[in-house]
Amino acid sequence: MSDKKRETFSSGIGVFFATLGSAVGLGNIWKFPYLTGANGGAAFLIIYLLCVIFVGMPIMIAEFYIGRKTRKNIVGAVNQLSPNKAWGGIGILGMLSGYLILFFYTTVAGWVYSYIFKAMKGEFGKANIDGAKSAFSVAIKGPVSPIVWQLVVIIIICTILILGVKKGIERVTKSLMPVLLILVFICMVRALTLPGASQGISFLFKPDFGAVSPKIILIALGLAFFKLSVGMGTMTTYGSYFTEDNNMIATALRVTLADTLVSIMAGLAIFPAVFSFGMEPAQGPSLLFVTVPLVFSKIPLGNVLLTIFFVLTAIAATTASISIMEVPIAYFTEEKKISRNKAVIINGIIIAVVGILATLSASEGSALAGTKIFGKTFFDLFDYISSNIFMPIGGLLIAIFIGYFNSKKNVVDELSNGGVLANNGIINLFRIIIRYATPILVLIVFLNSIGIIKL
Ligand code: PHE
Repeated sequence: MSDKKRETFSSGIGVFFATLGSAVGLGNIWKFPYLTGANGGAAFLIIYLLCVIFVGMPIMIAEFYIGRKTRKNIVGAVNQLSPNKAWGGIGILGMLSGYLILFFYTTVAGWVYSYIFKAMKGEFGKANIDGAKSAFSVAIKGPVSPIVWQLVVIIIICTILILGVKKGIERVTKSLMPVLLILVFICMVRALTLPGASQGISFLFKPDFGAVSPKIILIALGLAFFKLSVGMGTMTTYGSYFTEDNNMIATALRVTLADTLVSIMAGLAIFPAVFSFGMEPAQGPSLLFVTVPLVFSKIPLGNVLLTIFFVLTAIAATTASISIMEVPIAYFTEEKKISRNKAVIINGIIIAVVGILATLSASEGSALAGTKIFGKTFFDLFDYISSNIFMPIGGLLIAIFIGYFNSKKNVVDELSNGGVLANNGIINLFRIIIRYATPILVLIVFLNSIGIIKL
């Protein structure tokens, strides 16, 4: 049934690293720490972890199932599984989420790219807090340089997508992800040995549920979707490239664990330092860019390590971006029969044109910085709508679709590789979670956040 020309990842390890390459990105290094910092620390972390276990991971398994069973793009895949074409809306909504993410994700990736050169020039050698803060203001202040960096990011993503992806992504992630882990680890050890580090550890692990609000719960849920790349078709598209013998439940478990580990390590690299330097944990998107250079400035050869850290973060951001853009590319080439190169270029242009709005709106002093829609800048709006509205709705629909509109036999068959894996127990558990826990939790968080029900 599968189209012979369709590429797949080469092996089990290849599947794992390619998928991890999508999950690990700016979400772990930049967004997780700053949202945890802005929303109260440990209590937020615990709610986030519950969302990962009961919502993110089950939806990841459901998406792998949809992708590998059909070996199609998100719209084609859903349409193949259901005679009712309305379900294809999951795919359209997913692609919209993907565009919204890319509009601001390429902004932040551009900041990261520009930091590679700042680190290389030794700008942070003897930096203090004010120096680190002003370096960030300069990096985001436009109008020209952050836009140029964003365009560089988009061009690199498009080039890799045109050159043929899967084997390349696999290889890059397989060799570089471990190095990123080592650098985050070094940064973490240094941060943990700074004077006053223990306050940061308490912040991350000693929960105070007093300050938790429905809004904060929705943000934690949104982060779980964003982090695990679920609810918008990426994991369906990657699942469509999986090998036949892959144990998809095990892959989802491993990817989720590894991804969560990277986030927690990033948190342990940042919060001890934040408290030790007497900074504000709730400073928002600048947190990574201000804290990490200061930690590395306290390590021998810190500039070299900091440069490598930003190179690897840039690579992680790039592989994650590729996985987002692969969703509309697969759709346009398979459903609309547009050539791959054309699809990449058209999408690249769309992302550049609208993405510039995000970059300018985040740039102090630009005309767009003061432009607010629903009280948010373009940058924040793109982020908010994708993570906190579209992806949860997409995820909810995927859970209902797989839980209620696909036969149990098909699901069991695919997830057990035609009965080869003796994993009936865990598949049954998955079905219970995806039918009840996942949709009910997403609905409750939603209704609670808009005030229809009160927890
Ligand atoms: N998971 C990626 C990160 O954490 C972002 C992403 C979101 C990638 C959605 C693909 C799809 O950086």
